[in-house]
Amino acid sequence: MHNEISKQLIEFIKKSPTCFHAVQTMSDLLIEEGFTELKENEKWKLEKGGKYFVTRNGSSLIAFTIPEQEMKGMRIMASHSDSPSFKIKENPEMEAEGHYIKLNVEKYGGMLCAPWFDRPLSIAGRVIVRDPETGTLRTVLVNVDRDLVMIPNLAIHMNREVNDGYKYNAQKDMLPLYGDITAKDSFMKTIADAAGAAPDDILGHDLFLYNRQKASIWGASEEFLSSARLDDLQCAFSSLKGFLAGEKKEYMAVHCVLDNEEVGSGTKQGAASTFLYDTLTRAHDSLGLSREDYLIHLADSFMVSSDNAHAVHPNYPEKMDPVNRTYLNGGIVLKFNANQKYCTDGVSAAMFRDICQKAGVPVQTFTNRSDMMGGSTLGNISNTQVALNTADIGLPQLAMHSPYETVGVRDTEYLIRAAEVLFC
Ligand code: CO
Repeated sequence: MHNEISKQLIEFIKKSPTCFHAVQTMSDLLIEEGFTELKENEKWKLEKGGKYFVTRNGSSLIAFTIPEQEMKGMRIMASHSDSPSFKIKENPEMEAEGHYIKLNVEKYGGMLCAPWFDRPLSIAGRVIVRDPETGTLRTVLVNVDRDLVMIPNLAIHMNREVNDGYKYNAQKDMLPLYGDITAKDSFMKTIADAAGAAPDDILGHDLFLYNRQKASIWGASEEFLSSARLDDLQCAFSSLKGFLAGEKKEYMAVHCVLDNEEVGSGTKQGAASTFLYDTLTRAHDSLGLSREDYLIHLADSFMVSSDNAHAVHPNYPEKMDPVNRTYLNGGIVLKFNANQKYCTDGVSAAMFRDICQKAGVPVQTFTNRSDMMGGSTLGNISNTQVALNTADIGLPQLAMHSPYETVGVRDTEYLIRAAEVLFC
């Protein structure tokens, strides 16, 4: 079973080189499953038993179902669509030595820099194209689906101390090589060709580097899976699979995937935005329910914020809490933090453990070492807009924020099964 799921996960990630593609991939799957796409700029006419989804900025997506029977509340699973990468700047071409064309990029999110070197990369994202006939602007997703750029390392002979630690400068060290001098002035043409548009008609772009290395299932008994963007597409994929498989009889079921977690969520489509609030309240309005009905439902609701978690690293076991230890293939990770960077508390921990027991899946617990600052995630940020009992969870992984991360092959299925029970 987990082999089949791993293959599906790999395919899902392959189709999703950027947040925009991840939302497109999910939209396609939802339409296949009979969901109706709602637009934020149109009136909503929802019905009991209906299945819907809405996107914002093409990079965040919320899918939900309305139960046939009277709604008991809402059950939400949230994850994020973005991953750390390098964004292509405006006017990206830079000539070097009269012999090379490299690209000007900047960091998106907090990545491990070293593994971006010496591997085939490409570029994907979206461009905004003006239609030459109508003059209207439309968004086109692009993926230059071939090995296109590379960030070559400096030879060891020219920096003998590099293995003693190196501080990467994003403006100097991380600029990808795009071509020899004959490539001059061709970059936007390459992008325009991938978009099926003329370069002059492209008025805006959001383009990112992505790792071309194929996902791999490996290890003595093929127990590990490595791929780009597992944080957080592994959770987004599992959430969607569980959402589609769940019965969704008693609660409004909500599969929510938000952009910009890697840069603090403070955008119009991020977890700090009104997107989730707007969607839930509009759904209530459209069903003829009152604001008070919404608040009553919210009080009886539960959210699982799913963002990948750290597993104990075999070479650095001292980096984790002495007692709460998480391992690949050990099950879903329930995250705790006294300062509420993770919103799990005694109540939401109990609710999530109860779900996992019903699903028959293992749960591990994570807390940072008490002398170490951890990362942040989207649960507590989302709670400032839509406040409800929330557990922060994730699937265990190694090398978080590398362009090639590692997880356990069995954990995806555990989260799908837990999501199925959440969406009962
Ligand atoms: Co994440």
